[in-house]
Amino acid sequence: MMDLFKQATRKGLFLFDPETAHGMSIAGLKSGLVRACRIPADPRLAQTVAGLTFANPLGMAAGYDKNAEVPQALLRLGFGFTEIGTVTPKPQSGNPRPRIFRLVEDNGVINRLGFNNEGHEAAFQRLAAIRGDGIIGVNIGANKDSEDRIGDYVTGIRRFYSVARYFTANISSPNTPGLRDLQARESLAALLSAVLAARDEEAKKAGRRVPVFLKIAPDLTEEGMDDIAAEALAHALDGLIVSNTTLARDGLKDQRQAKEAGGLSGAPLFTKSTAVLARMRKRVGPSMPIIGVGGVSSAETALEKIKAGADLVQLYSCMVYEGPGLAGDIIRGLSKLVDREKVSSIRELRDSRLDHWAAAKV
Ligand SMILES: Cc1cc2nc3c(=O)[nH]c(=O)nc-3n(C[C@H](O)[C@H](O)[C@H](O)COP(=O)(O)O)c2cc1C
Repeated sequence: MMDLFKQATRKGLFLFDPETAHGMSIAGLKSGLVRACRIPADPRLAQTVAGLTFANPLGMAAGYDKNAEVPQALLRLGFGFTEIGTVTPKPQSGNPRPRIFRLVEDNGVINRLGFNNEGHEAAFQRLAAIRGDGIIGVNIGANKDSEDRIGDYVTGIRRFYSVARYFTANISSPNTPGLRDLQARESLAALLSAVLAARDEEAKKAGRRVPVFLKIAPDLTEEGMDDIAAEALAHALDGLIVSNTTLARDGLKDQRQAKEAGGLSGAPLFTKSTAVLARMRKRVGPSMPIIGVGGVSSAETALEKIKAGADLVQLYSCMVYEGPGLAGDIIRGLSKLVDREKVSSIRELRDSRLDHWAAAKV
């Protein structure tokens, strides 16, 4: 149940348009007004994925902290990791406002921001100033007007190599025209070859190997999923993030906002993104790390992603509705669910509903 404080804060923020409210929540985190969350460490939630040790499996998804303004404040909310970006080499302003829409009755969000961000240099300077060993991933993309999109990803790897604990190559935003075409087999092969070659070169220089994940869309055909899995395996990619926002608009109550162009996220994305996650797990096998994202709103939905094949999960949209205490609530809730399931590590629950989710109709 939402407490009174939470209800009042949400009501206050919802008086503003979503982008202004987002700016206010970033300012709140920067100012320290949003309280840190004390969660007792639960070793049953900890795990090592792609060579990184996560205190718990819940991360903040990309897009909330695009410019690396508040990664440490997010980690203090209880998240086991956070992902900054998407950042592009040059700053860009994105699409005209309004470009974020709340679908309140659906607990959903539609956005068509279009990679608005301050560019590599600004985010790099902020990350370079951070002391501490929290896991901060860097989500990289391409400028809208770039003549060499693959080159933009390579530039991202090189620029952030010294500060990133992991990279995400985001080729699945629906808001940069043509970006999702990089998911097609030949383009993907070229992208992965270039990005992983740059990573390997930087790893040699630094004596430290930073894993690279690929973030994919939920709007894929079975053949599209086959192609991505085949290329991910052929290039020994470090992992997949499933998924970005969807272009689908099925089953929404708020028909007025549903007409807005952009990517849909939050509760209405849960079933689709979880089914695609399970189908990708079936295709890539048990060893490749997968981060499940899309509609996580509670400990139960986070655990369901793990049961569908995820090693780690992320969220963004439901925090808009539930507030900054959501991460702590989910972590505490996961400990209770692990008690109930009587396992010694949450990892034991991975894939336990893989068949169910892989067969889910979406
Ligand atoms: C306002 C907004 C901005 C986003 N920006 C990015 C982004 O820059 N890069 C990215 O990879 N994903 C971005 N996403 C997608 C999220 O990271 C996530 O994949 C998606 O929203 C599904 O998770 P959720 O239902 O928990 O929000 C954005 C999502 C929202 C709602």
